[in-house]
Amino acid sequence: MRNQALLGAGLLTIMLAACGGSAEQPVVEQIVVREPGDAAPAVAAPVDIVAAGEAAFAMCTGCHVAEAGEASMAGPNLYGVVGRGAGSLDDFAYSEALANSGITWDAAQLDRYLADPTGLVPGTIMVAGAVDDADRRAAIIAYLESLSE
Ligand code: HEC
Repeated sequence: MRNQALLGAGLLTIMLAACGGSAEQPVVEQIVVREPGDAAPAVAAPVDIVAAGEAAFAMCTGCHVAEAGEASMAGPNLYGVVGRGAGSLDDFAYSEALANSGITWDAAQLDRYLADPTGLVPGTIMVAGAVDDADRRAAIIAYLESLSE
């Protein structure tokens, strides 16, 4: 027991010595002063909207995966959908309406499709999953935009 206690004290001494050597490291610290009524820092917004969109995407996952390399389910894989031609995945049997729509998915087109799929693409077989709330659509689209290489 006594030997162990001595060993412990020895180790403590070594650790303290090691710490002493790094005492001159700069302290990394940032103080942000905000007055009441100041807008929140702009950097926080994109992260939050993507996280909100990921949460809201739960209502899509019954039909869609959104992961690279995953097989499409009842709906096409949505990984990398932003910038992609509508109806362009080989592993999914799209409606002719969507495949021939000529749409390239950008934020504006996705917003219209999610608000009213059959309104934008009459004959589309996505008959559920419309999102009434504009903020929720924007968050989901931000999340989809975040999914690419
Ligand atoms: C009930 C199943 C279902 C749900 C729920 C659903 N979708 Fe779909 N989605 C589909 C199907 C089926 C298609 C293919 C439509 C076609 O071929 O006309 C599709 C197509 C799409 C496309 C076009 C993809 C491409 O490759 O052109 C997007 C974008 C899309 N869905 C987004 C969403 C989002 C975002 C949600 C959730 C808010 C959602 N969908 C919910 C079934 C669904």
